[in-house]
Amino acid sequence: MIQLAIEAALEAGKFLKESVGKVLEVERKFGQETNLVTQIDKKAEEIIINKIRKKYPDHDFLAEESGSHNKQSEYRWVIDPLDGTLNFTHGVPIFSVSIAVEVRGEVVAGVVYEPNLDELFTAEKGKGAFLNKKPIHVSSVDTMIESMMVTGFPYTIRDNPQNAVQHFVNLLMKAQGIRRLGSAAVDLCYVACGRFEGFWEVSLSPWDMAAGVLLVQEAGGRFTDFHGKPSSIYTKQVLATNGLVHDKVVEILEEGLAGKVLTSRS
Ligand code: IPD
Ligand code: CA
Ligand code: CA
Repeated sequence: MIQLAIEAALEAGKFLKESVGKVLEVERKFGQETNLVTQIDKKAEEIIINKIRKKYPDHDFLAEESGSHNKQSEYRWVIDPLDGTLNFTHGVPIFSVSIAVEVRGEVVAGVVYEPNLDELFTAEKGKGAFLNKKPIHVSSVDTMIESMMVTGFPYTIRDNPQNAVQHFVNLLMKAQGIRRLGSAAVDLCYVACGRFEGFWEVSLSPWDMAAGVLLVQEAGGRFTDFHGKPSSIYTKQVLATNGLVHDKVVEILEEGLAGKVLTSRS
């Protein structure tokens, strides 16, 4: 199955890369002005699902554009055909394809492909994580002031859900730096390969994180909610770090949840 996930991600990634600048239709989802979907998102999803269905006609799917396929199966493919749609529509070359396989509710394989850098991240449960077939590991940084953090914002950010804006300010005061790349799947893979120490976001969907979270875990990192409690891909809140700075980030996020605004001295 991982081989098929890789092939599907490479094919969809190639299609996405060739489609930059060719967006003809842009729709707004759920009445949210900034939540875009293009015909390219939908076509990429079709490419992936058709390919998998050919080999596994009985498997179930949970995919961003077509939703839950509601098939009775032990196997479910969790797919984001284009993670980073806003980047894509602006021609910013940071976007990815994310495909994960669940068996009886547990994520056992994950693939994230970033076509512009031709970076393929893969992981299987219990077998480690890889970037272009080479083993990867989370970083060994253990202080906040040496930590480069990455985050993303939900399309509802203007309502400041779960004090999302405060967390950003608070981490800015404590970390070495913060980046916002625009693709949660890429963010998680960059934690897995040690480019970032940690990633947090207040509200993600299963398809944004299923593959990336397995990558972080298989690369030796830790994944919880903002309180450091065990989380799942269905729990929305995501904190994924190299493990060493995890508790420190939890402390900062808990301050933010309680409405505290930190300064560089607090
Ligand atoms: C979005 C990206 C972004 C994250 C948003 C996601 P999409 O996914 O992963 O980085 O901040 O919360 O919705 O809409 O580009 O597939
Ligand atoms: Ca996404
Ligand atoms: Ca998407």
